[in-house]
Amino acid sequence: IVVDNQYRTGYHFQPPKNWINDPNGPMYYNGVYHLFYQYNPKGAVWGNIVWAHSVSKDLINWIPLEPAIYPSKPFDINGCWSGSATILPGNKPAILYTGIDPQNRQVQNVAYPKNLSDPYLREWVKPDYNPIIEPTNGLNASSFRDPTTAWYGLDGRWRIVIGSKRKHRGMAILYRSKDFVHWVRAKHPLHSANGTGMWECPDFYPVAMGGELGVDTSEYGSGLKYVLKNSLDITRYEYYTLGTYNRNVDKYIPDGASADNRSGLRYDYGNFYASKTFYDQGKKRRILWGWSNESDSTRDDVSKGWAGIQTIPRKVWLDSNGRQLLQWPVEELESIRGKQVYMMNKKVKGGDFVEVSGIMTAQSDVEVTFELSSLAKAEPFDPTWTDPQKLCAQKGADVKGGVGPFGLLTLASARREEQTAVFFRIFKASDNYVTLMCHDPSRSSVRPGLYKPTYGGWVDVEIKKKGKISLRSLIDHSVVESFGAEGKTCMTSRVYPSIAVGDAAHLFVFNNGAEDVKITEMKAWEMKKPLMNGD
Ligand code: FRU
Repeated sequence: IVVDNQYRTGYHFQPPKNWINDPNGPMYYNGVYHLFYQYNPKGAVWGNIVWAHSVSKDLINWIPLEPAIYPSKPFDINGCWSGSATILPGNKPAILYTGIDPQNRQVQNVAYPKNLSDPYLREWVKPDYNPIIEPTNGLNASSFRDPTTAWYGLDGRWRIVIGSKRKHRGMAILYRSKDFVHWVRAKHPLHSANGTGMWECPDFYPVAMGGELGVDTSEYGSGLKYVLKNSLDITRYEYYTLGTYNRNVDKYIPDGASADNRSGLRYDYGNFYASKTFYDQGKKRRILWGWSNESDSTRDDVSKGWAGIQTIPRKVWLDSNGRQLLQWPVEELESIRGKQVYMMNKKVKGGDFVEVSGIMTAQSDVEVTFELSSLAKAEPFDPTWTDPQKLCAQKGADVKGGVGPFGLLTLASARREEQTAVFFRIFKASDNYVTLMCHDPSRSSVRPGLYKPTYGGWVDVEIKKKGKISLRSLIDHSVVESFGAEGKTCMTSRVYPSIAVGDAAHLFVFNNGAEDVKITEMKAWEMKKPLMNGD
């Protein structure tokens, strides 16, 4: 197998080579965005983990720096694992991260910039009083990691949570500190849930009820809801809940019965893990970063010399219905839009394909709105269908439907032996309509030996009332990152076409349903290549 540079992304974040995983300690500081990430300086497989470091003025063009945190002391000699940044009073950033000590215990450490007047904060110092938190008093030393950004309480103490588990109970263990040096474990975790296993990379933050503005992690008051997200290492998916945070007892209570498990809400119903948000003081928004792993083999990764990308940073805010978060690629992404093609009021009959030509679609940004002429022929919804991913696998893009499947065939070969389908399908339930969104990469490549899971999620829209649904897909050689219904349902897939590569990659709008749909508007842009870590 020849695996060369054809799968490297053009505008998604990646270093020139080697393995990457979780985004770490993202922050905005004195006009500069920082992204640290889990990195193996020695190869394209996980190991030798350090905090690599890049900086940007716009979240799109990235300058690589030397690793900021790397094993050098007993408290992190076997690895510098995930963690978060907090900007302390006096405009002083601090990083909390998990170190792996000589006994392979997971301990928590703090690091500070060596020189606050260096605009890039290149060097970080780890005080000798580290570790600041150890897995004592019955804590499981191999399931105790990934400290969050700290938030400040009215009692003058900082709080963080650390991901952990006890037997099968996943938990966010709470610690408090007056000085960021001495940390005391709270009697009860902020939250826990049985049967969920280890909670990796917890994230806990407020969102405003109403509007798209972000809320700083330590802010409090009325008009806020809270988000708790955990990455479950048993399913390799992340789930979040919305809820209330009782400051008096430091307890988080999820709304309703909404579960922090497999039936729960997700930022992304595809390949997206170990994510983390930060508050951007510059533009008053909250931004989400997530890691998207490869779906080829370890051998492929070694031969291409790299593995892993970060998805496009997304603004997150609370849906006005209060039931879920919305996400949208940061507006800065639009600055690298190049040549554009446009379509308006184009009918796509059942069984039809419309090619989007005139731009290089292997590296593109596509926005399309579909109008549904009628829902009369919608397929009946079976209430036992509780797993949207399974339903998408049963009813892939090639399975004819009533209303839908309609959507995009991305990274497609001219004759469509290869295609990664992104689509909607609408069902008629007893008293309403149900909208499903899918990624079907089952024909994404004719090459054998690839992992090609179908992904799916429900879309919480009043489809009958609106009569319309929008889709945006960010297509970038080996990744398709999609935002359904203005960011209600998102999913990311990693694919490795062997024919639909470069100029040979085509883009189609398709409709495989019985009802016609209309493209009311479609805009597609070829994307320019930003500065990407010196690549
Ligand atoms: C999540 C994770 C974290 C850990 C890091 C190690 O992907 O397993 O829990 O800190 O990666 O690289």
